[in-house]
Amino acid sequence: MSVAVTVESIQKSFANFAALRGVSLDVQPGELVALLGPSGSGKTTLLRLVAGLEQADGGRVLFDETDTRQLSLRDRRIGFVFQHYALFKHMNVAANIAFGLKARPRLERPGNAEIDKRVSDLMELVQLKGLERRFPVQLSGGQRQRVALARALAIEPRVLLLDEPFGALDAKVRKDLRGWLRDLHRRTGHTTLFVTHDQEEALELADRVAILNEGRLEQVGSPDDVYDHPATPFVCEFLGEANKLPVKVVGSQAFFGDRPVLGGLQQNQGGPASLYVRPQHLRIVDDAPLSLPGVVEDIRRNGALRRAEVAVQGLAKRLDVDLASQVAPALGERIRLRITHGSLFAAA
Ligand SMILES: Nc1ncnc2c1ncn2[C@@H]1O[C@H](COP(=O)(O)OP(=O)(O)O)[C@@H](O)[C@H]1O
Ligand SMILES: [Mg+2]
Repeated sequence: MSVAVTVESIQKSFANFAALRGVSLDVQPGELVALLGPSGSGKTTLLRLVAGLEQADGGRVLFDETDTRQLSLRDRRIGFVFQHYALFKHMNVAANIAFGLKARPRLERPGNAEIDKRVSDLMELVQLKGLERRFPVQLSGGQRQRVALARALAIEPRVLLLDEPFGALDAKVRKDLRGWLRDLHRRTGHTTLFVTHDQEEALELADRVAILNEGRLEQVGSPDDVYDHPATPFVCEFLGEANKLPVKVVGSQAFFGDRPVLGGLQQNQGGPASLYVRPQHLRIVDDAPLSLPGVVEDIRRNGALRRAEVAVQGLAKRLDVDLASQVAPALGERIRLRITHGSLFAAA
C-alpha cells in the first residue's frame, strides 16, 4: 500500500525568491525520512509539493512510477499532520478520525459498521481508547496530535506527511511522542516524510535524515552517517556541537601549528583545512604522539555529562570537552587531549 516517493530536481520560487533550488530525494516504500533544516530552508514547501498543494516550477514528484501530476489530490492519498492542531473543534474525537472516510463519495465510502471498526482500531493504535466522545478542547496537546495522526491514518494513506507535528508541545511530551511514533511506524510501515528543525528528534526517529539548507539538500544519510560523517560544515554544526580547529594537512596527517593532531587521513588534499571535533571526541590522555596540550579553565554540568573548557595556545576559542567516564581534571590543570574522531573540510 505504501509507495516509493521520488523527488526529482524540484525547483520552486515565490516571486523572486528561490525556496527550493534543485532538490532530489528518494524515499523507499515504508521508510521514515526526516527532513531537517533551519526555519526558512524550504521544508514545508517541499512537503506541500509532495502533497500536491503547491506546483513545482521545475522537476517532478513520482509515487512509484507515476508522475503525481497525473493524480488528482484525492488519488494521491496523502495523510497530512500539521504543527498546529487542525482538528475540527465541533466534532468529538471519533468523528474527527472518521471524517476522511465519511467525506468520500458514496460509492467509495465504507459502511458505517466498517467505519466504526476502523475508528476503534485506530483509537487503540494511538492509545486513546475511551476518549472517543471527548472534544479537542478536552485533550492535552499530545493527545490532540495523536488524534490528528489517527485521522491522517484513517484514509489508509499511501504517503504520510508530518510537518513539525510535535513542534508546539513541551520538551517532555515531544520526547515521549518521538518514541511512540517510532513504534507506531514500525507497526504500520507507512512511507513517511517527517519535517522538523530539531536535530535530536530527526536523529532519533528517522531511518534516514535529509538536511536542507537554503533550498538545497546538503546531505541525505542514516543518522549515524550524517552525525559522524557530515558532508559539509553546515551539516556538522547543525547536527550538534563541534569545536573548530584550523589545521594544515600534510600527507596523512593534520597539523595544528607544527603539532600533528590527527593521523591516518585518507584524503590527499594537502593544505589548509578546518577540523571539526565534537566534545565527546576529545579524550584526556597521559601522553600520545598525536595530542594537543591545554589548560582546564572551567568545568560545568551539561545535561548528563560534565563539560570542561580547555584553553589551547594559538586557539582563540576554548575547546569543549565532554568528561563522560574520564577522570575529571582539576581547574587549572595542564592536560593533553587526543582527538578520537574528527571531520575535515578544506578551507574555503
Ligand atoms: N506562499 C509563499 N509566498 C512567498 N514566500 C513563501 C511562501 N511559502 C514559503 N515562502 C518562503 O520560502 C522559504 C521557505 O519556506 P518554508 O518552506 O515554509 O520553510 P521551512 O518550512 O523550512 O521553515 C521561506 O523564506 C518562506 O518565506
Ligand atoms: Mg515549515
